[in-house]
Amino acid sequence: MDLHGLIDVLPKAELHLHIEGTLEPQMMLDLAKRNGVTLAYDTVNEIAAAYDFSNLQDFLDLYYQGMSVLIHERDFYDLTMAYLEKVHGQGVRHVEIFFDPQAHMERGIAFETALGGITTALEDAGKHMEMTSKLIMCFLRHLDEDDAFKALECACKHKEHIYAVGLDSSEAGRPPELFSRVFKAARDEGFKAVAHAGEEGPAAYVETALDDLQVNRVDHGNRAFDDPALIARMVREQMPLTMCPLSNLRLKGISDLRQHPIKKALDAGLLATVNSDDPSYFGGYVNENYKAVADAVGLDAGDVIKLAKNSVVASFVDAGRKQELLDKIESQVGRLT
Ligand code: HPA
Ligand code: ZN
Repeated sequence: MDLHGLIDVLPKAELHLHIEGTLEPQMMLDLAKRNGVTLAYDTVNEIAAAYDFSNLQDFLDLYYQGMSVLIHERDFYDLTMAYLEKVHGQGVRHVEIFFDPQAHMERGIAFETALGGITTALEDAGKHMEMTSKLIMCFLRHLDEDDAFKALECACKHKEHIYAVGLDSSEAGRPPELFSRVFKAARDEGFKAVAHAGEEGPAAYVETALDDLQVNRVDHGNRAFDDPALIARMVREQMPLTMCPLSNLRLKGISDLRQHPIKKALDAGLLATVNSDDPSYFGGYVNENYKAVADAVGLDAGDVIKLAKNSVVASFVDAGRKQELLDKIESQVGRLT
């Protein structure tokens, strides 16, 4: 079996996925119609043509506009279920999904509306297909600490549905340490912690995500490679990295996929994983990310199997389910060799 065939059938986890970033152009148009929302576009082609980004902020401007069609609990349900069905077909058997409640509350949509739709879809998927999940609430780093504390207060009422907190949105000039207090409060409440760091920001932001936010996992982390001592520390601590190759390419973090550090990360012994970030905006779901980066940097079957195993090891799922997923990877590999 060729490498792409292996990628298609390997069981895997996806750990870096913004549910609002799975809003496909057709669904955006359908929901706009259903909800009477006016968009700047009339056709799928017009939307696709607008997805030509120079940097993270360029993308975020359209991402926040796009989510204006998500109004009712059912919209969040449909969005989430469409994603889960899609990636189940790609071998994904566990997901850890980000959502951005502050972006919804800011436009008058209740925390519970977004949360209810997403969690009901996650629960239904768990009943109808093999798919376990965790939900991660992200703080928006372009807003202030008070706003983040308000989101945390909401999350504390729904601990049974929210497993971890994260940090996303515009990174430049917004270092992790601005959110030290709210992350400390979240950790004290029992939430796990992750943060986007080193996507556009410097290696120092990865370091303060580790030291000040005490994260369990780093999202992106590409710029950590500017600091060899930091990489050595992350190898020593087996700190997971959730990397997103097509996102890095589309947001111009790299100018060519051959520059992507995933192979360097694996060879260094980092617990690196491959994920899709915002698949509808960046031109590929998780398997398209595996395939594109494998072709560009020359990953072999061993690397791809390692990435799938890393995705399970780096997840927040309990030890029993982790072992079950690792066994499934092994038996799939066994069937092929
Ligand atoms: N980076 C930062 N914030 C985000 C992203 C991203 O790629 N997607 C959605 N919010
Ligand atoms: Zn992201």
